Amino acid sequence: MEIRNLVCSFEGRTVVDDVSLSIEAGRVTCLLGPSGCGKSTTLRAIAGVEMQNSGEIYVDGKLICDTVFRVPPERRQIGLMFQDFALFPHLSVAENVAFGLKGTKEEKRARVEELLDKVHLLRYIDGYPHQLSGGEQQRVALARALAPRPRIMLMDEPFSGLDNRLRDGIRDETLAILKEEDAAVLLVTHEPEEAMRMADEIALMRRGKIVQQGAPYNVYTRPVDKAAVAFFSDVNVLKATVNGALAQTPFGQFLAPGIPDGTEVEIVFRPQHLRLDFDRGGKGPVPTPSEGVAARGVVERARFLGNESLVEFRMDYDGSILKATVPNVFVPQKGRVMWLTIRRDKCFVFPA
Ligand SMILES: Nc1ncnc2c1ncn2[C@@H]1O[C@H](COP(=O)(O)OP(=O)(O)OP(=O)(O)O)[C@@H](O)[C@H]1O
Ligand SMILES: [Mg+2]
Repeated sequence: MEIRNLVCSFEGRTVVDDVSLSIEAGRVTCLLGPSGCGKSTTLRAIAGVEMQNSGEIYVDGKLICDTVFRVPPERRQIGLMFQDFALFPHLSVAENVAFGLKGTKEEKRARVEELLDKVHLLRYIDGYPHQLSGGEQQRVALARALAPRPRIMLMDEPFSGLDNRLRDGIRDETLAILKEEDAAVLLVTHEPEEAMRMADEIALMRRGKIVQQGAPYNVYTRPVDKAAVAFFSDVNVLKATVNGALAQTPFGQFLAPGIPDGTEVEIVFRPQHLRLDFDRGGKGPVPTPSEGVAARGVVERARFLGNESLVEFRMDYDGSILKATVPNVFVPQKGRVMWLTIRRDKCFVFPA
């Protein structure tokens, strides 16, 4: 499916602003962005329940929707799964799953059994929604959405109602089923962890626009701007001015290729890319090309988070705070002096 230059406005306010995106069979594309950035609106336009102001949608190169011509929603071969997936309470589990199915009674029954088996709920086939837990209902909703063999699945925060542990399991199971069915999936989420876990491709959305798109690894390691770094993790920021394609900081020089002299820049890096060294008689480690110069900081606060520890330092050079994460347990006392260095290859330099 290909979306070209989609624009949606409400009362003159543009909430989807020239979005172009294509999704492929057997792949999961995540539309990721903060609350209110226009994700659900994009999905509703694709589903055909919202009318776009301009832009076209194609499936297999054939137009299914522009501002004049529209294939009705029920004929788009699109499966929908929304956060409030609402099963029909008066229908049995089997009847819920069979809801969108065509064919003989036997064919329908076979398909219902096949899907309930896949979501491990065959034993509830004659049960009713109120007899199921939240997670089980979610899996019935998934079976219902998949039953008519949609070629395209649109999922809007489908896992947000579940507790953490249950959610991980259901996400993985859902992913396996979607791959098996070879559907093209567009999954909306505002959680970066969910996108990293589910996506073959991430489209990062902000204020109605897609600001970056690519494989999760590329989006995470080659962010387009500071906000794109900050969306995935905590960040640290150093301010500097460029001089001769270099930015001078208390941590030494950073390359700023292609940025004109005099430009204010921000050097952005994640807490896991700070290196910590102990103080040795008032000195830190010797400067190196890959890690630059060490700067002195004093522990302000340290917490153990499970997989890692988070240590906040008050830096000598300007009194600002830098955050460092360290694997396992490292919880130094407040007031302890340490020396910090930054891995050059993990830093991003953006004009401020
Ligand atoms: N029917 C509508 N009428 C007027 N404004 C709307 C309508 N639907 C959505 N909006 C506005 O459009 C903007 C984008 O909404 P949308 O639901 O697409 O956001 P979202 O990215 O899905 O956010 P969330 O992560 O919170 O679900 C919001 O500011 C919202 O108030
Ligand atoms: Mg939404």
